[in-house]
Amino acid sequence: MNIVIVGSGAMGLLFYQQLNTQADVRIKTRSNDNIYKSFTYTDLHGCNTSMQYQTADEAFMKTADIVLICVKSYDVANVVSSIKDSIAENTIIILMHNGMGVIEELNLTTSPKNPIYTLLTTQAARKLAKNHVKHTGIGINQIGPVNNHIGDREILDLLVELSTNDIGFEFCNSITLLQWKKLAINCAVNALTAINNINNGELSAAAYSKIIESITSEVIIVAELEGISLDITETLNTIKTVIKNTSMNSSSMREDVKNKRRTEVSYINGYIHNLGLRHGLLTPENTKLFEQVSNLEANYG
Ligand code: PAF
Repeated sequence: MNIVIVGSGAMGLLFYQQLNTQADVRIKTRSNDNIYKSFTYTDLHGCNTSMQYQTADEAFMKTADIVLICVKSYDVANVVSSIKDSIAENTIIILMHNGMGVIEELNLTTSPKNPIYTLLTTQAARKLAKNHVKHTGIGINQIGPVNNHIGDREILDLLVELSTNDIGFEFCNSITLLQWKKLAINCAVNALTAINNINNGELSAAAYSKIIESITSEVIIVAELEGISLDITETLNTIKTVIKNTSMNSSSMREDVKNKRRTEVSYINGYIHNLGLRHGLLTPENTKLFEQVSNLEANYG
């Protein structure tokens, strides 16, 4: 099986490390060269391994069974548009990003005929340096279809079969429900940790419980208007568990702000704000977080 990973951020390199012994995996970089690049991988126990990957040239792109896109949500539409003519029509595109709203953008900017799936992961990884990734949390990977084109299920079954102790893929036909569940977590955790410059674990303090409840209630009401039913108690418990399990993590949005990079807030709290407006509903807590993080971004020195 040939797999192309687009994006050499923390998650792209983590998936490379986990899949490359089972399949021919190459990483797509901006140039179309076929060259070798190296990076250091630190596992969950702190052991370092030096790894090498081959970049994907045009010839390899044409043979890809799967293209796994691990870029920020705001880059997905451009990436899909830039690779769609280089891959075969039946190549399965798997998107892995935080937040929601990307699929709507794809419809506007491109019309890929390819089967498109979403991958939700609870694994965690962090870049310690440009060429150094650390695996920081185990988790599961769930994949589900997001367009009507199911594609070659055999390829996806093969991906599930590739699952090892290190990496497991599961199939899920109702991925939208899971996306909403993850969105609720990201709405509650990411902006608050970025604005207050704290690790995820600090959100378990009593001072944050009321605001987390208000943010989550708004997400649940908007989800309901979209035909998705989430239970408030269950969702709040999941958020608490994620905060506990990732207590030493610095959220992706906090890292983006610290490094003066664009954040994914428009696809997280901003998504709730905009969807709420479309339904004629105000979502004051999510709107406030959306504005606060957007202001931080606008004031990067
Ligand atoms: O974006 C993130 O950082 C992660 O999705 C999460 C779950 C908030 C943990 O840090």
